[in-house]
Amino acid sequence: MKDAYGLTVTTGSPDALAAIDHFADEIMTFGLNAGAILDRLDADPACVIAHAHAAALLMFLYTGDAAAQARPHLDRVRPHLGGASEREQIYFRAIDDWTAGDLDRAVDGHRRIARDWPRDLVSARVGQVHCINLGDNEGILAFGEAATRARPDDPDALAMAAFGLEQCHRLAEAERVGRRATELRRTTAWAHHAVAHVMETQGRLAEGRAWMEGLADTWEGCNSFMYTHNWWHAALFRLDQDDIAGALDIFDRHLWTRMRTYCQDQVNAIALLVRLELRGAEVGGRWRDVAAYLGGRARENVLAFLDLHYLYALARAGDDKAADELVDAIAARAARAKPFERSTWAEVALPLARAMVAHARGRWTESTDRFAPALAQLQLIGGSHAQRDLWHQLHLDALIRAGRRGDARAILEQRRQARPDVPWTHRQLAALT
Ligand SMILES: [Fe+2]
Repeated sequence: MKDAYGLTVTTGSPDALAAIDHFADEIMTFGLNAGAILDRLDADPACVIAHAHAAALLMFLYTGDAAAQARPHLDRVRPHLGGASEREQIYFRAIDDWTAGDLDRAVDGHRRIARDWPRDLVSARVGQVHCINLGDNEGILAFGEAATRARPDDPDALAMAAFGLEQCHRLAEAERVGRRATELRRTTAWAHHAVAHVMETQGRLAEGRAWMEGLADTWEGCNSFMYTHNWWHAALFRLDQDDIAGALDIFDRHLWTRMRTYCQDQVNAIALLVRLELRGAEVGGRWRDVAAYLGGRARENVLAFLDLHYLYALARAGDDKAADELVDAIAARAARAKPFERSTWAEVALPLARAMVAHARGRWTESTDRFAPALAQLQLIGGSHAQRDLWHQLHLDALIRAGRRGDARAILEQRRQARPDVPWTHRQLAALT
């Protein structure tokens, strides 16, 4: 049978095919109902793609037991793999590699599919997310470009390309492609996001705020990652406009209201609280509210990017024991890391973890010293440029508080040149001269 993209699916069940098409639509639009695939697997217990999708969905939770939850779905159809098409087999193996922690091999599988079956947007989406987690900007763009070559007028393909262009610093093209995706379908939240990144990078504060808040009504139907992440971007514009109360309002009304147990909601909330505090905002009991959901996550060590966010929240909430345990867990994770991720955990995550704990505890000189070597390879930690700025901001704050005025001034001058309309940067500079 053929799916909505015209790709061959090995099943005789129209219900299984409908479930696959529904899942694809939900994943591409960041919908609320991707989980429906889990309830429809019995339509064809031998359908490789449907079960691989179910496993991928569970892996996207990024919990410590995600792989254990995902694997039974893969095992159920493993005996039927020989009867599946080549594309289905490659996709299955890519998801299987993901459950084994072999993200580098998983990306290779998605790359092969993007090369030979570029209409497979779901595979491209999974591959693009892996590249985001690996800090591979060229890879992020390559999946978007393959998708747009196959489907040049598909808003989801265009949105993927727009984000890749932005991460590769091709800002004008990113904005044009992101705007086109939004014109084709106003609800394309990933395109809103790509354009927000362009405006964030260029410091177009009022324009960025109007762009995001003018589209925010369309995010109501999005999953909690996309909803909270786009609202996080909207809050950044308010923050840079010195609208602290407005940013806190977004936190209370949008960022910390959806799925508090989900890592992406937690990361977006933490990433805003850090920035609010750095500006001198009083965030009240919000650290403790967030940290209350993190206790069980401290030993998961799925992605270093996530661990470091959890760590700072635990440290700022005053849970010193949990924070110290998480640093130890990161050290242990670094010691058992696979070759492709060894530098990420050992040379970036672990020094950053120690630098962040030192910052949270007011040990400014120690913090600056620990930050410096890790920042040189910060890209490896994954996420976007805007998200990784968290560590540059913490480092800068530590430099200022440690009295390293010359170093701080040099960084602030660069930040002022890149984004001249942010009043906070001017105030920080003025305070140092
Ligand atoms: Fe983003």
